[in-house]
Amino acid sequence: MSAPRIIVTRKLPDAVEARLKRHFTVALNPHDKLFTREKMIAAMQNADGMLVAVGDPLDAEIMQAAGKRRVQILANFGVGTNHIDLEAAEEHGIHITNTPDVLTDATADIALTLMLNVTRRTWMHETRLRRGEWGGFSLIDGLGTSLQGKTLGIIGMGRIGTAVALRAYYGFGMKVVYFNRSKIEVQRIPGAQRMDTIEDLIETSDIISLHCPGGEANRGLLSANRIALMKPTAYLINTARGDIVDEPALVSALLAGKIAGAGLDVFAKEPRVPNALRELENVCLLPHIGSATVETRTAMGMAATANLVAHFAGKPLPNKV
Ligand code: DGY
Repeated sequence: MSAPRIIVTRKLPDAVEARLKRHFTVALNPHDKLFTREKMIAAMQNADGMLVAVGDPLDAEIMQAAGKRRVQILANFGVGTNHIDLEAAEEHGIHITNTPDVLTDATADIALTLMLNVTRRTWMHETRLRRGEWGGFSLIDGLGTSLQGKTLGIIGMGRIGTAVALRAYYGFGMKVVYFNRSKIEVQRIPGAQRMDTIEDLIETSDIISLHCPGGEANRGLLSANRIALMKPTAYLINTARGDIVDEPALVSALLAGKIAGAGLDVFAKEPRVPNALRELENVCLLPHIGSATVETRTAMGMAATANLVAHFAGKPLPNKV
């Protein structure tokens, strides 16, 4: 019996490609050229399984168009699945898996990186220095804000939210409040307080960090009305998904000085970033690099591969969505 045929939509770390080749007949994407909708449909018709990633168009229309579909499983390289229409996948009998856990630390680290960068205004300082505009040490110029003693509000206290809260509490002496849809016990962070509403959390927090999934359920969760409740001294950090925030409302609040700043690793329509954001000194902008370490991306690829291997061996899927 020939090995199942797997089509991979993005260039993967070498070790992951080597592992895939040991188990499957694989079509790789060595030049990392993004799949068009047509190519995605053809792939669904010609592969037994696919290894996909954020940004791949995997909506209901594509799944429908792939009429004589052969694909049984889409193994997503990443934890977020908001680019996949899960209902349509279920309707068409396509299994979906993701790669939780292995990216928790890397993503939490980037949330803290953004927090530190934006509160200490590092982008502004470094830009001025690189331009040769540093006039020498100053006691008063360009002062930032300390994290110690400030209140961090986490929206979505799952794996990554908890990892961020742990770092903030133990590493930086911050107080932690959180909002989570389902009731959960947070025992590892003394004094962590569950807020009954997102509004309560926003009004209490000096820094708000988003860690809930993107997609329909949370689209625009941080709405204009909620952004208006933020303290004028507060910062927003987003390492989750751009669609959770009303991006134009955030840009307006930043331009009008209604909030102190924002640290963003994700955007509503990636890779487009609003021009107004790029002009601002009180934002730190990163190109969706939450999980972008060699170790983490390799572990994510291995986890996606393990899901494919389990599926074609008829075993339970390790990370079924
Ligand atoms: C994730 O895993 O969701 C990261 O954002 C990369 O897609």
